[in-house]
Amino acid sequence: MNNRNAARDLLDFYAEAGVDALLGEQPVDRLAAPEAPPQRAVQRVATPLNPEIRQGAAPTAPPSPDAAAMAAREAAKSAQTLEELRGILDKFDGCALKATATRLVFADGNPKARVMFVGEAPGRDEDIEGLPFVGRSGKLLDRMLAAIGLDRTSVYIANIVPWRPPGNRTPTPQESAICLPFILRQIELADPDILVCLGGPSAQTLLGIKDGITKTRGRWFSFNAGKREIRAMPTFHPAFLLRSPLQKRFAWRDFLAIKKALASQGA
Ligand code: URA
Repeated sequence: MNNRNAARDLLDFYAEAGVDALLGEQPVDRLAAPEAPPQRAVQRVATPLNPEIRQGAAPTAPPSPDAAAMAAREAAKSAQTLEELRGILDKFDGCALKATATRLVFADGNPKARVMFVGEAPGRDEDIEGLPFVGRSGKLLDRMLAAIGLDRTSVYIANIVPWRPPGNRTPTPQESAICLPFILRQIELADPDILVCLGGPSAQTLLGIKDGITKTRGRWFSFNAGKREIRAMPTFHPAFLLRSPLQKRFAWRDFLAIKKALASQGA
């Protein structure tokens, strides 16, 4: 195999493994490094998840998923504002996705908006910019919003999982369960009149439904937003619409229904 093919195979291997971003401009040959630099002590911080950690103490195993979910519930409950919630999430170490993501992707848009959209998880572009729906599917979402007279000043946007899963894989049920208390609190604090679930995983996680998106899209559900019951609608995820443009006509119907609901529910 010549060098070119070998390099291409290696890049394909990296891409499949989810390695699709450069950490530096210059390559570093770790194998050629003369000697390993002295190990820096890892500073671990006491959090609600690992309160026993003190500086200098031996590292402990990561918390079990149940312990992480319980810590997430306690942490989310303690947030009194969206900004507090963002800060708490930023310090939360219970979800392994945080370790591989570049940054937290908390929300975009207007937190006082009457309609909130919730997707599944950030992708590569969102991970780089720290904002949800800024890549190709975000651009389509912007066009769909514009078609019913909305934009990012009149909607609030977040995801079930606020860290990018490596290689854009689907978040595991455990990862979604650990992050669920945070998005539920985020919805409660934003207090929208209408919730729109973008895609099946978002609808299934938030509305507790088993049916797929083709069956549930366009239907109104009642959603307990903490302070009150609000209306919620699942619709197709823009990434799916990019792959299946014929389905856009159904999404259009859903967006018209959202427009109508916003108009009928007052200013
Ligand atoms: N897909 C999502 O579900 N969320 C984003 O933020 C981007 C793409």
